[in-house]
Amino acid sequence: MSRPVRHFLDIDQLDTATLRTLLERGLAYKRKTLADRPLVGRTLALIFEKPSTRTRVSFEVGMRQLGGEVVMLDAQGTQLGRGESVGDTARVLSRYVDVIMLRTDSIGKLIELSNNASVPVINGLTDRSHPCQVMADVMTFEEHRGPITGRIVAWSGDGNNVAISWIHAAARFGFELRLACPASLQPPPALVTWANAHGGRVSVTTDPQAAVRDADCVVTDTWVSMNHKDRTERINLLLPYRVDEALMALARPDALFMHCLPAHRGEEVTDPVIDGPNSVVWDEAENRLHIQKAILTWCLDVQAPL
Ligand code: CP
Ligand code: NVA
Repeated sequence: MSRPVRHFLDIDQLDTATLRTLLERGLAYKRKTLADRPLVGRTLALIFEKPSTRTRVSFEVGMRQLGGEVVMLDAQGTQLGRGESVGDTARVLSRYVDVIMLRTDSIGKLIELSNNASVPVINGLTDRSHPCQVMADVMTFEEHRGPITGRIVAWSGDGNNVAISWIHAAARFGFELRLACPASLQPPPALVTWANAHGGRVSVTTDPQAAVRDADCVVTDTWVSMNHKDRTERINLLLPYRVDEALMALARPDALFMHCLPAHRGEEVTDPVIDGPNSVVWDEAENRLHIQKAILTWCLDVQAPL
């Protein structure tokens, strides 16, 4: 019997043991202890419906480092942009490539792609989540501070796609996550309920000071994501959630600062915080490369021994 296709769609879709293996392998790739070119002869298609710097470069460089090839597809330059269905695109691409990464404005398209592809599909960001990013973030936390289980992570800002992947991670890795978001920009309550029923300790408040107090890590993200149109309204709502030195001072003295980037300096974070000694934003960006190499080899079931 053939094995089911291994998609990497969201952190909540995988069990803790698998996620831990990915972290371990991401670290091994960073330390260069895994076989160098296990994906010779394999091809990754990268589909972007939205802009990207980190995801685009880290997937392309990572796949090449693993010995594989990359095909870059800008949705507007393909028939997808002219209305060919995602399902038909999935069936066709599955005949050409071995794995597909999609960055899209709609979780529905990711699901349609994975339901119709006979090769693994990786979520490179949707309006709903950004699992590759948060796997890199958990890896970064653990490199700097040891196991994240039982620690306190505070989120101050929009309850957006990255926040949702943090909620998934809180359940799977067993840490406390305190989200401070304006009332109208909070993550779905059902998701918080799910996380708390599955090993997380997730709370939502409108008070950033309360969320950040004694935290081991403070995280934020842009106030205006790629799928948002209401810039002025959002900025007005989110001003009290800016991560500045006064807010960081409420966290533990060694609290890390994280941001998936791109940052909007002076909006969600000030220069002294993002450029400060506790900021690990460049490590997060680097770790995208390493964790995605672990994700690619896991999806293709090519596991070099550790
Ligand atoms: N953090 C992140 O995904 O960045 P890009 O939008 O540049 O890919
Ligand atoms: N929340 C941001 C993340 C960018 C990497 C967005 O969706 O635009």
